[in-house]
Amino acid sequence: MLDLLVRGARPVRAAEENGASSAAAHAAPSPSLVDVHVRDGRIVAVDPASDDAPEAHEVIDARGCLVAPPYVEPHVHLDSVLTAGQPRWNESGTLWEGIACWTERKPMLTRKDVLDRVSEVLRWYVANGVLYVRSHVDVTDPGLVALDALLELRSQVRDVLDLQLVAFPQEGICSFPGGEELLEEAARRGVDAIGAIPHFEDTREDGVRSLEIAVDVAARHGLLVDVHCDEIDDEQSRFSEVLATKAMRTGLRDRVTASHTTAMGSYNSAYSYKLRRILLRSGVNLVCNPLVNLHLQGRFDGYPKRRGLTQVKELLVAGVNVAFGHDDVMDPWYPLGTADPVLVAHVGAHATQLMAPSEVAQCYRMVTDRAARVLGIGEEYGVRPGAPANFILLPAADPTDVVRRLVRPSVVVSRGRILVERDPAVARLRWPGEDPEVVDFVRRRDAVGAGWRRGPAGAGALETR
Ligand code: FE2
Repeated sequence: MLDLLVRGARPVRAAEENGASSAAAHAAPSPSLVDVHVRDGRIVAVDPASDDAPEAHEVIDARGCLVAPPYVEPHVHLDSVLTAGQPRWNESGTLWEGIACWTERKPMLTRKDVLDRVSEVLRWYVANGVLYVRSHVDVTDPGLVALDALLELRSQVRDVLDLQLVAFPQEGICSFPGGEELLEEAARRGVDAIGAIPHFEDTREDGVRSLEIAVDVAARHGLLVDVHCDEIDDEQSRFSEVLATKAMRTGLRDRVTASHTTAMGSYNSAYSYKLRRILLRSGVNLVCNPLVNLHLQGRFDGYPKRRGLTQVKELLVAGVNVAFGHDDVMDPWYPLGTADPVLVAHVGAHATQLMAPSEVAQCYRMVTDRAARVLGIGEEYGVRPGAPANFILLPAADPTDVVRRLVRPSVVVSRGRILVERDPAVARLRWPGEDPEVVDFVRRRDAVGAGWRRGPAGAGALETR
């Protein structure tokens, strides 16, 4: 007896991940539909769809929905979520005023304040199909209030999602009194990764030194590294080369991530070429945060105004792993946000000019398997026998369709349990002189044979036995 059986789902195929049209694939009854068998929180089989599947306590009729691994959030600041406007709004919209607002908000932090806000947003993440989250947490607070609250929450949510915590020295390691000691203390208390913010340090030398300290702390404690690196529109900010070189020479390599790297949007072509070579050789990951950096960067420019994003397309072509993150949810740096990775991928496609079919599919990968590589999830990530039963159902044709129509998961399964069921959002159109019709923005020629569009209950209908 299975705990859960998902009948008739369509795995995301490698060709679709890379943007090949799948219209033909679902125009015909697909022979590739699978049943996903779940027992004791794990996937025990992914077999061709069959009427003779084993009995299960719960059954989901996927009707040809995509079955996909959950989304992965590679970069968010949970400690500051839902604090926008407290104690004042960031009127200039700059990163710098955001930091100033946060510095004023920090003394008001309490354990309950952090737990309440973060618990709320983690529910948004799960509702959007995100089951792996990497959060930075500001450790330039002598009380480490937010860090302790998030460490507590990491344990509390373990049965639902995986939460990684990065000790993030928002106000610097060398430029903040006791910054180095606070980073070391955060490592002792049990963070997963060590951060830095070299472009914010007072001098270039402090910036380099801060990277040496962060990498050293991480290496001694066996932790990952994730640095806010070159998040500034200054073409002279060149800490990514320092971080990548340290990743190479210490052997930490893909355990290191350079986040934001927005200065790369201002580098000249000759230096960019050299840097991409270093980044590739080092094996580091990069995380671009298109929602937030489109808004924060370019604020000191007249026209022409820079986009202020890292070189995502060029890095992907060079073979560097890049992921997309949300970064902020309703905080001093970004007043909007619903913790939705599909919106991040959608905006990221526009912001980084990734619009060829293969490129839109890459945007999906940057919130799924590419982000999973940033977190180092490894073989546990994927819809395959032996893996934890963490997956989502998407009523969509393929990853490109998910990004285009902003398709949200109809079902989210975590550790073998159904955590989310979403009603299909449709518009009922009464065009004059015609019969009423449902508009779900699926192109008519793609719709033939799309089983997930049929049936009164919608895709991902749940039957409980
Ligand atoms: Fe960030």
